[in-house]
Amino acid sequence: MTKVTYQLADGVALITVDHPPVNALGQVVRQGLWDAVARFGRDDTAQAAVIIGAGRLFIGGADITEFGKPPVAPFLPDVINAIAACTKPVIAAIHGTALGGGLEVALGAHYRIATRTARLGLPEVTLGVIPGAGGTQRMPRLVGLDAALTLMTTGKPVSGTQAQAMGFVDELAGDDLRADALAYAARLIAEGAGPRAVTDLPFPAADADLIAAWRQRLTRTAKGQVAPLAVLDAVVAGIERPFDQALAEERRLFLSMLDTPQRSGMMHAFFAERAVAKPPEILGIASRPLDRAGVIGGGTMGAGIATAMVLSGLHVTLVERDAAAAARAGETIARNLASAVKRGTLTETARDAILSDALVTVVGHDALSDADLVVEAVFEDMDAKTEVFRALDRVCKPGAVLATNTSYLDVNRIAQATGRPADVIGLHFFSPAHVMKLLEIVVADATATDVTATAFALAKKLGKIGVRAGVCDGFIGNRILSHYRTAVDHMVLDGASPYAVDRALVDFGFAMGPYQVSDLAGLDIGYMTRQRKAADAHPRDRASVFADALYHAGWLGQKAGHGYYIYDADSPKGRPDDAVTAIIETSRADLGLSSRDFTAAEILRRTMAAMVNAAANVVADGIAQRPSDVDVVFVSGYGFPRHRGGPLHYADTVGLDTILTDIREFAAIDDHFWTPAPLLEQLVADGRNFASLNR
Ligand code: COA
Ligand code: NAD
Repeated sequence: MTKVTYQLADGVALITVDHPPVNALGQVVRQGLWDAVARFGRDDTAQAAVIIGAGRLFIGGADITEFGKPPVAPFLPDVINAIAACTKPVIAAIHGTALGGGLEVALGAHYRIATRTARLGLPEVTLGVIPGAGGTQRMPRLVGLDAALTLMTTGKPVSGTQAQAMGFVDELAGDDLRADALAYAARLIAEGAGPRAVTDLPFPAADADLIAAWRQRLTRTAKGQVAPLAVLDAVVAGIERPFDQALAEERRLFLSMLDTPQRSGMMHAFFAERAVAKPPEILGIASRPLDRAGVIGGGTMGAGIATAMVLSGLHVTLVERDAAAAARAGETIARNLASAVKRGTLTETARDAILSDALVTVVGHDALSDADLVVEAVFEDMDAKTEVFRALDRVCKPGAVLATNTSYLDVNRIAQATGRPADVIGLHFFSPAHVMKLLEIVVADATATDVTATAFALAKKLGKIGVRAGVCDGFIGNRILSHYRTAVDHMVLDGASPYAVDRALVDFGFAMGPYQVSDLAGLDIGYMTRQRKAADAHPRDRASVFADALYHAGWLGQKAGHGYYIYDADSPKGRPDDAVTAIIETSRADLGLSSRDFTAAEILRRTMAAMVNAAANVVADGIAQRPSDVDVVFVSGYGFPRHRGGPLHYADTVGLDTILTDIREFAAIDDHFWTPAPLLEQLVADGRNFASLNR
């Protein structure tokens, strides 16, 4: 089937890219564009050409399924150079999205018209590569060095309106892009406007200091990623060399990155995030209505969840215990909305409309009688939760989805508190709930499939990544977290400093180290979890005595100005504390333990081995449906470095036999904690990896 069509309309060649779902620039599309451009050159009846996308967008980018495979001609830079070399005007007409190679095609054209809401960007760094078809050479010529580097090193797209203000879109279109683009072409023809290649513009000059400042900034923010620095290298080539040579250097850098683990990790994350949204059980299942929502409890989580809901257009009724708590919850939500206004993501008018029409905070469950979905976020206590669910059972309309935001408790037991367990599901949001992308959708034994489908629809509506999880203590993320947190605490008991542990994991690429995370979440959370689990403890479990000691000292983390770190005006991000080190040493002495050194490499090996081992059990138990779901949970909810793909993709990269060998080595000292996961042993015995289990 032809993916690129050529039509004549009033002396204008209309070249349409029609390759669902995203008009990606696979080989057939590149060939189609190549042929269409050649035909335009030969076609004396066409005085200008318009390149446009069929369907909901212009061009979504290079076909990333071709990355890592041998490139097949015609190559994209050649196609784009052919567009630029046309001797009659070529106009790119952009709606929906123009990303990566798609935007590079548009930059090869001589003129650009876009809808106001179109998203234009060069997101290659988010896939571990750089623009490889002239983007690094053309964009700086149009928008200047700083703006181009910002676009290309963050990968964040801008709107059509912003693109025009920045200077890489010439005209804004109304509702009918095709008609407006043809009218623009007619105007250019009438004005006698000729072809206008971007490369006719000079490359912006820059002195060594500016480049050095950029390099320093990118080295700091890239956190081990190579792509943002390679973007800078390509731009420097543009400053120093003529276009042809700089383009060749950009291509060389691009191709060299295709083969890197970072590219493979980021592409794995991209496809894993898309696969996770489609659990087989909900394919073809319609979701229930989703318009009016209820939230019970307006504390840390409830207020955040309500904020996310009103921001996505839901009407929310928030129920608290008393009028004072309801008022406090309303104030928290108003503050959250105010920061959205300050950031520019919400207008004041929209904020005012939400506060007057879309949100009520009340006391008493009766107000939830017309809610389509209710999320309970009261204290983490089974009696409190079952009482709430009995009340919901009484007041909610038939068919309402009843969800709990519990972090650890048994969703099956909560469901049994109602006479309608099929309507009950876990919706495990992460803090802060209006910011964090991850939503674990915990499907209980009796949960109806259309309730699960509604939960996935909610995730999409809220702009979150929903991941299906089964019922167990901690679901996917927290179950794995508590296991590797224990491994990390063991290292501290055996001599590692918490600061060295944090540094090793941040250097690996984690957003924060585990002790920094404890300080952020509050040491009371971990303490309460340990208390709850104490009754089931095994005699050989090693207790985190130093963490209990910090809790009893009242050092609860950031909110107390003191946890593992001290937080004050001099060190808002925290500084190490000798008193904490002393507490740890006392704990060691009390337990009669001797202290030894841990290198950063060993800290990493042990942490990753514990994480992978626990994750293998989570997959084997069916708590996660596939290894890539675990990866999505850790990348989107636990600060795992995206360029490493996720813990199980990383394990495949290291080699499962290496991980298993590590676990067996650690087991020689402590075979209680370090029991190899049977699934891991099986995969190693079969010579397979986790990827082989992704469906
Ligand atoms: N190459 C190949 N396949 C792609 C693709 C690309 N560049 N972009 C998206 N797809 C696939 C997705 O994997 C998905 O496939 P599936 O239905 O089998 O799961 C399908 O196209 C739809 O994509 P999805 O992301 O679900 O659609 P969307 O409307 O939410 O978003 C985009 C569309 C284009 C904004 C988004 O897909 C995207 O950001 N793509 C990557 C763009 C990019 O980074 N391009 C630069 C490459 S150089
Ligand atoms: P919180 O203490 O900040 O808030 C709980 C709120 O519920 C309080 O405002 C309280 O007044 C209210 N409340 C209690 N009983 C109520 C009732 N019967 N009716 C109405 N309101 C009631 O707690 P939180 O941190 O928001 O946690 C809530 C739930 O979310 C817990 O189950 C917790 O495990 C889970 N969770 C917390 C986090 C987190 O990081 N804090 C993350 C994920 C999930």
